[in-house]
Amino acid sequence: MDWIEKEKKLIPQVYKRQNIIFERGEGCYLYDLNGKKYLDLVAGIATVAIGHSHPEFILRVSEQLNKLVHVSNLYYTIPQIALAEKLQKLTGLDRFFFCNSGTEAMEASLKFARKATGKKKFVAFKNAFHGRTMGALSVTYKEKFRKAFEPLIQPVEFANFNEIADLERKVDKETSAVILELIQGEAGVFPAEKEFVKAIFELKEKFDFLVIFDEVQTGFGRTGKWFAKEHYGFQPDIMAMAKAMGSGFPIGCSSIKEEVAKKLEKGDHGSTFGGNPLACTASLATIEIIEKYGLVENAEKMGNYFMKRLKELFSEVRGKGLMIGFKIANAEEFVKKALDKGLVLNATSDDNIRLVPPLVIGKKEIDLAIEILSSLG
Ligand SMILES: Cc1ncc(COP(=O)(O)O)c(C=O)c1O
Repeated sequence: MDWIEKEKKLIPQVYKRQNIIFERGEGCYLYDLNGKKYLDLVAGIATVAIGHSHPEFILRVSEQLNKLVHVSNLYYTIPQIALAEKLQKLTGLDRFFFCNSGTEAMEASLKFARKATGKKKFVAFKNAFHGRTMGALSVTYKEKFRKAFEPLIQPVEFANFNEIADLERKVDKETSAVILELIQGEAGVFPAEKEFVKAIFELKEKFDFLVIFDEVQTGFGRTGKWFAKEHYGFQPDIMAMAKAMGSGFPIGCSSIKEEVAKKLEKGDHGSTFGGNPLACTASLATIEIIEKYGLVENAEKMGNYFMKRLKELFSEVRGKGLMIGFKIANAEEFVKKALDKGLVLNATSDDNIRLVPPLVIGKKEIDLAIEILSSLG
């Protein structure tokens, strides 16, 4: 029996997978079991920021692997503290709770918001995606993801994205936090408007709620800035991050202001694995490689070039940096045809493609991608 048949018997069938087994990767390229080479424009869904098998990453993580993997948060370990120090410089936030994924970063963020404000209600946005555990799912919009698991946490209201008047109707004195992806990712790459973000912060003044930015997908250089918030010039009270934080090594974080941290007590939250020395070393190595090779700047430059080339071929090309979406009919079919020709793409719906390649991508790879895309008809 082949591996794919085995998977169908062994793994709960919750994933829609392509009919392909990847075995190894190098830079922007992946190789399947037969040795066929693919240009990867998905990067593990906006995750493998520094490219596959980066030699400096391998070295750093292997050194830590040989030294110490895990001891729990009953003790202090240096990589966790060093990573927090680094994140403080990068984010301007004050304290950092480490976990293992995006959805966990959202769980922590929601709990911290309730504890800090003493209020219950959350306001999120239509088409938002924040994860699939019960708390994060409660602020995720899609009915299909939510319905079977109700009752979820309440009260939650969904406002229209980029529509100030609707948000004004949904927030009030009972609101604990407004939760926002500055660029909606799973929805297909839809940026928030500057005026809209400004209005959120004006309403925050009036109603005294916290603002949570979900930068799980947009963080760590993806949009041509370290964090998408820098495009908007606003500082949230809480920021969730994960994905590219460890360039494929599982790690997430809820970054918070001191005012929020002050309200937290021992036992309010915790994680066995969260912030272990290996994961924190993987994240530190990722950040240092992004810095050393100017990958944030590369994301901006290559993102602009990629978007310019895509606009020659497709309608409605949207995004920032290397987080790009465009409209196409029969997107799922398009993805399959691209895979046949050695190009890895992701469809977020049946009429939208999302491109989130490794941040190390260069002109040569983009030109190759355009050549393949233009041959797909
Ligand atoms: C904005 C956003 N938040 C949260 C999540 C959940 O992250 P994870 O899949 O690591 O739990 C995702 C995943 O796609 C995301 O894009």
